[in-house]
Amino acid sequence: MVERAQLLELAKLYGTPLYVYDADLVVANYQSLYKFIPYNKLQVHYALKANYNIALLKALRDAGAGLDTVSPGEVHLALALGFDRKKIIFTANNLKDEEVAEVQNLNVLFNIGSTSRLEKYGKAYPGSRVCVRFNPDVVDGENAATATGGDLAKFGILMQDVDKVVAIAKKYDLKIIGLHEHTGSGLQHTESVFQSMKNLMSLATKERFPDLEFLDFGGGFKVPYKPDEARVDYVAMGKEICALFNDFCKNYGKELELKFEPGKYIVAEAGTMLTTVNTLKFNRTRTIAGCDAGFPQLIRPVFYGAYHRIENLSNPDGAKKVYDVCGNICETGDRFAEQRELPEIREYDVLAICNAGAYCYSMGGIYNLRSMPGEVVVSGNKAVLTRKRKSNTDLVAELLNDNIEL
Ligand code: LLP
Repeated sequence: MVERAQLLELAKLYGTPLYVYDADLVVANYQSLYKFIPYNKLQVHYALKANYNIALLKALRDAGAGLDTVSPGEVHLALALGFDRKKIIFTANNLKDEEVAEVQNLNVLFNIGSTSRLEKYGKAYPGSRVCVRFNPDVVDGENAATATGGDLAKFGILMQDVDKVVAIAKKYDLKIIGLHEHTGSGLQHTESVFQSMKNLMSLATKERFPDLEFLDFGGGFKVPYKPDEARVDYVAMGKEICALFNDFCKNYGKELELKFEPGKYIVAEAGTMLTTVNTLKFNRTRTIAGCDAGFPQLIRPVFYGAYHRIENLSNPDGAKKVYDVCGNICETGDRFAEQRELPEIREYDVLAICNAGAYCYSMGGIYNLRSMPGEVVVSGNKAVLTRKRKSNTDLVAELLNDNIEL
């Protein structure tokens, strides 16, 4: 991770709020999966939605990563950056027919998660190669909103409908080359990974799916967010994954490719958002540290109640006090942390909001007309401002420019 002194220097140089990413850690995290899961035909597809910083994507491309994409925009970006078309999987949901046509023209592999869409796809593009997404019927995730298996989730085809899938494929001569499932983000139990694998593998018989080239078990690998949270034993987990998959391949009669699509695992810990405390306020029961960024710039705490570690970079050894760390948006709920014990905060101290590499910048917006922070990418001894924060006047000029008169 980027050291405290360098973070402070970058805050001074480029101003806050500012995102800082460690590109070397991103690549190391990607590569570590190949060590943890020592299976010959493993392909990791980075979940681009977690962070679409161009420099990070280029570093992952150069390291050989594939991509999990979820919108036509993501596919266009992936291709513009020169990602290998064959290593891009397109797992969008609830697409318009026009969007299907647009991506079909780009010649990337569709991963289809509803029988209705599979039918329409088969009718429009008979004879295509396709991947099919099943709901693994396992419920797990960092929070309810990010559990993607089970009855409450909109994703994937029910396992009980597997024969409908086979019939549709037959009707339109679709070649099902992959089966997919994604259980959730930030899986709390490694057992869920194994159970979902078993469930998907139980469907993947040679009789039903004779053309399989791969099975894709999605993303969701967890990283610690809280200070006392244990790191998953990825060595043990990888071993079990390999054992399960090797067994499956033996039964299937072919050594298939094994795919995973992690986002958080690769980028979460490699990012930090820096913010300056502008105003301290002492209410009757709370001390409020008022920052120069708000929830549109880093939404996970407000949106999911997610915990992000906060460090006071300017006063790391200060006496511990309890704060509500609040943003600068006109909403009471605009907090990065509530009743958090931190080294004493003084006005103009710089705070680091940690684990901000995944689903932070990428879920950002400009509510209250505040620009998204700039982004710095650090690699080796280089630190580059890869995206500037838009000035207030530029932000407004762009809005006016985009406006079409009534
Ligand atoms: N594959 C599929 C089909 C997915 O839907 C997702 C995440 C991933 C892979 C990557 O999951 P990851 O390895 O990053 O956990 N915004 C939420 C997370 C939403 C994830 C949506 N899908 C958050 O901030 O916690």
